[in-house]
Amino acid sequence: MNKVHSTQVIGIASGKGGVGKTTVAANLAVSLAALGKRVMVFDADLGLANAQLALGCRAKYNFSHVLSGKKTVQEIIVEGPLGVQLVPGSSGIQRMASLSVVETAGIIQSFSEIEGNLDYLIVDLAAGLSDTVMTFLGACQHRFIIVKDDPSSIADAYATIKVMIQDYKLDNISIISNCMNSQAAGDRLYQGITSVIQRFLGGQVAHLGTIREDEMVLRSIKASKPLLQFSPSSAATRDFELLAKTVTKLTANASISGGLQFFLERLSRQDTTIK
Ligand SMILES: Nc1ncnc2c1ncn2[C@@H]1O[C@H](COP(=O)(O)OP(=O)(O)O)[C@@H](O)[C@H]1O
Ligand SMILES: [Mg+2]
Repeated sequence: MNKVHSTQVIGIASGKGGVGKTTVAANLAVSLAALGKRVMVFDADLGLANAQLALGCRAKYNFSHVLSGKKTVQEIIVEGPLGVQLVPGSSGIQRMASLSVVETAGIIQSFSEIEGNLDYLIVDLAAGLSDTVMTFLGACQHRFIIVKDDPSSIADAYATIKVMIQDYKLDNISIISNCMNSQAAGDRLYQGITSVIQRFLGGQVAHLGTIREDEMVLRSIKASKPLLQFSPSSAATRDFELLAKTVTKLTANASISGGLQFFLERLSRQDTTIK
């Protein structure tokens, strides 16, 4: 088949830490893989290696080895459940936005070996509004903000979206409500946030879905298994399956130019404009 293939790049962010970014990145990846999609998770959080835990895999090398030129991206990738691939993170990720042209070219070259074999690259970001996070978000095609139903998570999500819209002129922003008691509660949380955004920022954010609070999430991590396999019929598993279907519809309609190379080129181009 010589259909032009383009990888959809999704950035997962939040205002506050500990709201479920890594949980969503990993379980959305596995749920997309269960739908037959080829998925890679890029752990761009700083040095926590949480994505490895959430996917139940162990990496010998990480992105610092790519940045130092010791390994190619291909060589550090580890395979997780259902063929989900993981690019393990490192604290060196911060440097991504300030690499030299030669360094960037090497990494782009390294990533381009993967292009064509991938439907989704899911980037698990650090919390907050740092330049690095915004640079990564600017390079993604879709931006998912995770929000929990507590006042500080809501306030921080709003602050993050404000900076994204006003300072960085980003669009394609969607909210995922996490740790909710019910789907309806997730809808209400979204309604509250979106009305404030419309009123004060004049922007639009979509609601992608709700993940319910589920003790199986933590238990599956302890068992080093993805939720989907550990507890196939639990509430959060069903929510992730629904979320994955919604994501495939969203990305099928996406008319935005994309691809892995595009992502990396934008990532490296932005360091001069954002400081
Ligand atoms: N839907 C959920 N139900 C129950 N626990 C959850 C859920 N989502 C996340 N958690 C738990 O919350 C904690 C923080 O989640 P994590 O994904 O690491 O957050 P972040 O990446 O935003 O810092 C973890 O212990 C995780 O297991
Ligand atoms: Mg995390």
